[in-house]
Amino acid sequence: MTDLAIETRDLSKQFDRQLAVNEVDLNINYGEVYGLIGPNGAGKTTLIRMLAAIEEPTTGEIYFNGERLRPDRPNPNLQRHLGYLPDDFPLYDDLTVWDYLEYFARLYHLREPTRSRRLFDVLELVQLVPKRNSLISTLSRGMKQRLSLARTVIPASSTESASLKPSR
Ligand SMILES: Nc1ncnc2c1ncn2[C@@H]1O[C@H](COP(=O)(O)OP(=O)(O)O)[C@@H](O)[C@H]1O
Ligand SMILES: [Mg+2]
Repeated sequence: MTDLAIETRDLSKQFDRQLAVNEVDLNINYGEVYGLIGPNGAGKTTLIRMLAAIEEPTTGEIYFNGERLRPDRPNPNLQRHLGYLPDDFPLYDDLTVWDYLEYFARLYHLREPTRSRRLFDVLELVQLVPKRNSLISTLSRGMKQRLSLARTVIPASSTESASLKPSR
Protein backbone atom coordinates (compact mmCIF):
# COMPACT_ATOMS: atom_id res chain seq x y z
CA MET A 1 0.00 0.00 0.00
CA THR A 2 1.41 3.34 -1.00
CA ASP A 3 1.33 6.65 0.84
CA LEU A 4 1.42 8.69 -2.36
CA ALA A 5 -1.46 10.94 -3.42
CA ILE A 6 -0.99 10.08 -7.10
CA GLU A 7 1.03 7.28 -8.57
CA THR A 8 1.24 6.01 -12.13
CA ARG A 9 3.07 2.98 -13.42
CA ASP A 10 4.08 2.56 -17.04
CA LEU A 11 1.24 4.83 -18.08
CA SER A 12 0.95 5.03 -21.87
CA LYS A 13 -1.53 6.31 -24.40
CA GLN A 14 -1.41 5.30 -28.02
CA PHE A 15 -3.72 7.12 -30.42
CA ASP A 16 -4.02 5.65 -33.91
CA ARG A 17 -0.50 6.45 -35.01
CA GLN A 18 0.60 8.73 -32.23
CA LEU A 19 2.23 7.57 -29.01
CA ALA A 20 1.06 10.51 -26.89
CA VAL A 21 2.25 9.30 -23.47
CA ASN A 22 5.12 6.86 -23.13
CA GLU A 23 5.50 4.74 -19.97
CA VAL A 24 5.17 7.51 -17.41
CA ASP A 25 5.87 6.77 -13.73
CA LEU A 26 4.59 9.56 -11.52
CA ASN A 27 5.08 9.73 -7.74
CA ILE A 28 3.25 12.70 -6.27
CA ASN A 29 2.97 13.28 -2.53
CA TYR A 30 0.14 14.91 -0.61
CA GLY A 31 0.19 18.68 -0.78
CA GLU A 32 2.69 18.68 -3.60
CA VAL A 33 2.24 21.07 -6.51
CA TYR A 34 3.41 19.20 -9.57
CA GLY A 35 4.03 20.75 -12.97
CA LEU A 36 4.32 19.22 -16.41
CA ILE A 37 6.45 21.20 -18.82
CA GLY A 38 6.88 20.32 -22.46
CA PRO A 39 6.36 21.55 -26.02
CA ASN A 40 3.02 21.38 -27.84
CA GLY A 41 2.09 17.79 -28.46
CA ALA A 42 4.32 16.42 -25.71
CA GLY A 43 1.36 14.63 -24.12
CA LYS A 44 0.66 16.85 -21.11
CA THR A 45 -3.08 17.18 -21.70
CA THR A 46 -3.46 13.50 -22.53
CA LEU A 47 -1.70 12.55 -19.30
CA ILE A 48 -3.88 14.85 -17.21
CA ARG A 49 -7.04 13.63 -18.96
CA MET A 50 -6.10 10.07 -18.05
CA LEU A 51 -5.60 11.12 -14.40
CA ALA A 52 -9.01 12.81 -14.52
CA ALA A 53 -10.56 9.55 -15.75
CA ILE A 54 -11.81 11.03 -19.03
CA GLU A 55 -9.24 9.35 -21.25
CA GLU A 56 -8.59 5.64 -21.04
CA PRO A 57 -4.94 4.60 -20.82
CA THR A 58 -3.73 2.13 -23.44
CA THR A 59 -1.50 0.48 -20.86
CA GLY A 60 -0.38 1.19 -17.32
CA GLU A 61 -1.97 1.92 -14.00
CA ILE A 62 -3.15 4.94 -12.01
CA TYR A 63 -3.47 5.00 -8.23
CA PHE A 64 -4.93 7.65 -5.93
CA ASN A 65 -3.96 7.06 -2.31
CA GLY A 66 -3.07 3.53 -3.29
CA GLU A 67 -6.49 2.84 -4.76
CA ARG A 68 -6.45 1.86 -8.39
CA LEU A 69 -8.45 3.92 -10.86
CA ARG A 70 -10.25 1.44 -13.08
CA PRO A 71 -10.94 2.97 -16.48
CA ASP A 72 -13.32 0.18 -17.45
CA ARG A 73 -15.76 0.66 -14.58
CA PRO A 74 -17.27 3.55 -12.58
CA ASN A 75 -15.10 4.90 -9.78
CA PRO A 76 -17.57 7.14 -7.93
CA ASN A 77 -15.53 7.12 -4.74
CA LEU A 78 -12.39 8.25 -6.51
CA GLN A 79 -14.01 10.56 -9.00
CA ARG A 80 -15.72 12.67 -6.39
CA HIS A 81 -12.25 13.73 -5.23
CA LEU A 82 -11.04 14.80 -8.67
CA GLY A 83 -11.12 18.32 -10.04
CA TYR A 84 -10.00 19.07 -13.57
CA LEU A 85 -9.81 22.52 -15.13
CA PRO A 86 -9.28 22.30 -18.89
CA ASP A 87 -7.64 25.24 -20.61
CA ASP A 88 -10.81 26.28 -22.42
CA PHE A 89 -12.75 26.47 -19.09
CA PRO A 90 -16.30 25.86 -20.36
CA LEU A 91 -19.05 27.66 -18.39
CA TYR A 92 -22.83 27.93 -18.49
CA ASP A 93 -23.43 31.59 -19.33
CA ASP A 94 -27.09 31.68 -18.37
CA LEU A 95 -26.58 30.50 -14.79
CA THR A 96 -25.66 32.66 -11.84
CA VAL A 97 -22.31 32.12 -10.19
CA TRP A 98 -23.98 30.47 -7.21
CA ASP A 99 -26.24 28.18 -9.27
CA TYR A 100 -23.30 27.08 -11.39
CA LEU A 101 -21.21 26.15 -8.36
CA GLU A 102 -24.16 24.51 -6.64
CA TYR A 103 -24.82 22.37 -9.70
CA PHE A 104 -21.27 21.00 -9.54
CA ALA A 105 -21.36 20.64 -5.77
CA ARG A 106 -24.44 18.44 -6.23
CA LEU A 107 -22.60 16.37 -8.83
CA TYR A 108 -19.93 15.86 -6.17
CA HIS A 109 -22.72 14.65 -3.84
CA LEU A 110 -22.13 17.39 -1.30
CA ARG A 111 -25.15 17.73 0.98
CA GLU A 112 -26.38 20.65 3.01
CA PRO A 113 -25.16 22.26 5.18
CA THR A 114 -21.70 21.23 3.94
CA ARG A 115 -22.55 22.24 0.38
CA SER A 116 -23.32 25.92 1.07
CA ARG A 117 -20.34 26.21 3.40
CA ARG A 118 -18.10 24.76 0.75
CA LEU A 119 -19.47 27.12 -1.91
CA PHE A 120 -18.76 30.14 0.29
CA ASP A 121 -15.25 28.77 0.92
CA VAL A 122 -14.42 28.46 -2.77
CA LEU A 123 -16.07 31.81 -3.59
CA GLU A 124 -13.95 33.46 -0.92
CA LEU A 125 -10.85 31.73 -2.22
CA VAL A 126 -11.32 33.30 -5.67
CA GLN A 127 -12.79 36.55 -4.27
CA LEU A 128 -16.13 36.24 -6.03
CA VAL A 129 -18.48 36.35 -3.03
CA PRO A 130 -19.92 39.74 -4.13
CA LYS A 131 -20.67 38.27 -7.57
CA ARG A 132 -22.48 35.18 -6.33
CA ASN A 133 -25.89 36.31 -7.66
CA SER A 134 -24.58 37.62 -10.99
CA LEU A 135 -25.14 35.87 -14.28
CA ILE A 136 -21.95 34.29 -15.58
CA SER A 137 -22.44 36.15 -18.88
CA THR A 138 -21.84 39.44 -17.03
CA LEU A 139 -18.46 38.43 -15.57
CA SER A 140 -15.13 39.61 -16.90
CA ARG A 141 -12.85 37.02 -18.45
CA GLY A 142 -10.60 36.98 -15.41
CA MET A 143 -13.61 36.45 -13.15
CA LYS A 144 -14.75 33.56 -15.35
CA GLN A 145 -11.32 32.00 -14.99
CA ARG A 146 -11.53 32.37 -11.23
CA LEU A 147 -15.03 30.90 -11.19
CA SER A 148 -13.76 27.90 -13.14
CA LEU A 149 -10.97 27.50 -10.61
CA ALA A 150 -13.52 27.65 -7.79
CA ARG A 151 -15.55 24.90 -9.45
CA THR A 152 -12.41 22.77 -9.85
CA VAL A 153 -11.45 22.90 -6.18
CA ILE A 154 -14.94 22.14 -4.82
CA PRO A 155 -13.90 18.57 -3.93
CA ALA A 156 -10.56 19.58 -2.42
CA SER A 157 -10.35 19.33 1.36
CA SER A 158 -14.10 19.56 1.85
CA THR A 159 -15.24 17.85 5.01
CA GLU A 160 -17.07 15.08 3.22
CA SER A 161 -14.16 14.24 0.95
CA ALA A 162 -11.52 14.30 3.66
CA SER A 163 -11.89 10.56 4.08
CA LEU A 164 -9.64 9.79 1.11
CA LYS A 165 -6.60 11.18 2.90
CA PRO A 166 -4.81 8.73 5.13
CA SER A 167 -5.08 9.51 8.82
CA ARG A 168 -1.71 9.83 10.47
N1 LIG B 1 -8.01 12.39 -29.45
C1 LIG B 1 -6.83 12.30 -30.09
N2 LIG B 1 -6.71 11.53 -31.20
C2 LIG B 1 -5.50 11.39 -31.83
N3 LIG B 1 -4.38 12.00 -31.43
C3 LIG B 1 -4.45 12.78 -30.33
C4 LIG B 1 -5.67 12.97 -29.61
N4 LIG B 1 -5.42 13.79 -28.55
C5 LIG B 1 -4.11 14.09 -28.63
N5 LIG B 1 -3.53 13.50 -29.68
C6 LIG B 1 -2.12 13.58 -30.06
O1 LIG B 1 -1.34 13.20 -28.94
C7 LIG B 1 -0.18 14.03 -28.84
C8 LIG B 1 -0.17 14.68 -27.48
O2 LIG B 1 -1.19 15.67 -27.42
P1 LIG B 1 -1.50 16.50 -26.10
O3 LIG B 1 -1.58 15.56 -24.96
O4 LIG B 1 -2.69 17.36 -26.37
O5 LIG B 1 -0.17 17.38 -25.96
P2 LIG B 1 0.14 18.67 -25.07
O6 LIG B 1 -1.02 18.91 -24.14
O7 LIG B 1 1.41 18.33 -24.35
O8 LIG B 1 0.33 19.80 -26.02
C9 LIG B 1 -0.26 14.99 -30.03
O9 LIG B 1 0.52 14.47 -31.08
C10 LIG B 1 -1.71 15.00 -30.39
O10 LIG B 1 -1.92 15.28 -31.74
MG1 LIG C 1 -2.24 20.55 -23.82
